[in-house]
Amino acid sequence: MRNIVFGTDYYPEHWPRERWETDARMMREMGLDVVRMAEFSWAKMEPALGEFHFEWLDEAIAVLAKEGIVAVLGTPTAAPPAWICERDPEIEPMDENGQRLHFGGRHHDCQSNAAYREHCRRIVTAMAEHFKDNPNVVGWQIDNELGNSHDGLCFCPSCEARFREWLRARYGDIDSLNRAWGTAFWSQQYASFEQIHAPRRTVTGRNPSQALDWKRFTSDLVCDFSAFQVEILRRVTPDKFITHNMMGFAEKVDYRKLSEQYDFASHDQYPGGFFRPGEPDPAMGGAALDYIRSLKKAPFWLMEQQSAITGWQVLGRTPRPGQLGLWAAQTVAHGADTIVFFRWRSCAMGTEQYWHGILPHNGVPGRYHAELSAFIRRFKPLMEKTRGSMPRPETALLFSYDEAWAMGIQPHHPDLRYTGHLLTYYRALQKAHVPVDFVSAEEDYAGYRLLVAPLMYLMTPDLAARLRSFAEQGGTLVIDMRFGVKDGSNLAHTDVPLPGLAAEMCGMEITEFDCLRYGPVAVSWGSETYEGRLWADLIELKGAEALASYASEFYAGTPCVTRNRCGKGWVYYVGTEMDEPFADRLIAEAAASAGVAPLPFRMEGLECTLRQGDQGEFLFLLNHTDEAVSLPAEEGWRSALPDQGDVIPPYGAFVYTRA
Ligand code: GLA
Ligand code: ZN
Repeated sequence: MRNIVFGTDYYPEHWPRERWETDARMMREMGLDVVRMAEFSWAKMEPALGEFHFEWLDEAIAVLAKEGIVAVLGTPTAAPPAWICERDPEIEPMDENGQRLHFGGRHHDCQSNAAYREHCRRIVTAMAEHFKDNPNVVGWQIDNELGNSHDGLCFCPSCEARFREWLRARYGDIDSLNRAWGTAFWSQQYASFEQIHAPRRTVTGRNPSQALDWKRFTSDLVCDFSAFQVEILRRVTPDKFITHNMMGFAEKVDYRKLSEQYDFASHDQYPGGFFRPGEPDPAMGGAALDYIRSLKKAPFWLMEQQSAITGWQVLGRTPRPGQLGLWAAQTVAHGADTIVFFRWRSCAMGTEQYWHGILPHNGVPGRYHAELSAFIRRFKPLMEKTRGSMPRPETALLFSYDEAWAMGIQPHHPDLRYTGHLLTYYRALQKAHVPVDFVSAEEDYAGYRLLVAPLMYLMTPDLAARLRSFAEQGGTLVIDMRFGVKDGSNLAHTDVPLPGLAAEMCGMEITEFDCLRYGPVAVSWGSETYEGRLWADLIELKGAEALASYASEFYAGTPCVTRNRCGKGWVYYVGTEMDEPFADRLIAEAAASAGVAPLPFRMEGLECTLRQGDQGEFLFLLNHTDEAVSLPAEEGWRSALPDQGDVIPPYGAFVYTRA
């Protein structure tokens, strides 16, 4: 099979049959190799129980195949048809108030419900049987964005029963559960598993240990829902690949566990979406892509790459000239081997009328089409060479679902966000041209020089020992506020002062802390003054050196950032959430102690990544600003793309290879 480099998400069922040939021809002319289809087409494929209609899809696949375009099909389980909800209303999910949520949007399904599983089994099996010998169907996407819209769902009796089973398997006996959940508080002890409910709405307060187990359980449930479909597809269509379109740092599902089921990871990327205020954030974009690559430590697919102005009821800005190509180049720069643009043509109906595609509603190519066509022409030959290559970072950033969930349950400060906090470090690393992998709390860190592990709020002796040994063996470890407050059950550690299991390796103790509800605290580091935000740990040195100190509040003059020798390495501790210049300074210091080599061409607004593989080293330079950037002279690199001078245009992307 030839390499699949570019594609688009296509909904032939939204358009008259007479248009399909035109679409297919235009796709081929644009340089597209693949379409993803059918992930929301259940009602058309099975309009009544057991009555399958795949002929329209066969025809669409054949029309596309004539132009050399192959298909990835989505299993349509994110949108069960009305007749299923009418027949089995209990498949609709229930919210925390015990209220069913109904048909009319999407994701109106309960993933544990036995009747729903049967419906899924039937449609997935029928699709697999029908398409198994079709050479133009090359792979499958399971469902669509698992966890999207399900956040906080489902609290129905079926999920509740399954939660009890999950708890029984985890704890064995009810006394162990009572200990792990700290049920001595507020008279919450249970005499049997039968007394435990899904954590529906309470009068007041929630048990944080129970809430954490519920998050773990719902993540496992989503993995099981996917695995159930994967098993059918692997059995019936073993020669087709299986993937799933994930959503970066979305936290409903542990993507590390989920992606074990798939041949490769896929991701959906909308840098200019309407859901965030402000300018598109290159750090958010880069971090999400690095995260997805890190899941399987392999190149990935971008299954939905923004191709136009987007929105539902309200819209984001239109991508400015160059931005669509820049964002797609960023995707390649971080390790994607295939990009599928969402969507082919803006849809005339439904919730997503304004989530525009490469073509506008009228189907006549405009600026988006022209810019993406130019991008594809420029990048396609290059991507034959970058295929399979990988960034090889010396720096790792630890992302843990347990920490994300526990911090979400008790964010301490109303503005503290786990991922947002991690991004303060990522942004500084990106600006310093220091490439990053994301790692889990479970893996071996030995291959890295610098490990940044923020908000490590839940701490087990095993993890603390592995972090410590990373430093002892010569690594530089950066940890920060709320390290080691709780154990794996979300109960506070009581046997050591903070930072708990890290107190010794940090060479200091936290005697008190402040939640900065009335604004930031000043921090001075040498001659500079920065801002500490949201939180301030009050630190007493026990051998460590203070690098920066608070410069306001009653604790002015006491340490805020410390550094301590630990074996052959260093441990940095940061007692607050840093503003941007503060984080830049910290990362510069830590990267220097770690001996991490930054990538070249360091300039304001310029992102840089490196992919290394059999066909060479490829250095990507991405100008995220609306101004042209004159590149400094750097030895040893030559152009890997046509039309590259010394000046990167606004929103431009250059690629170099070793001279
Ligand atoms: C997600 C989904 C798509 C579509 C887009 C735009 O990424 O996977 O089906 O809904 O968002 O909203
Ligand atoms: Zn349910």
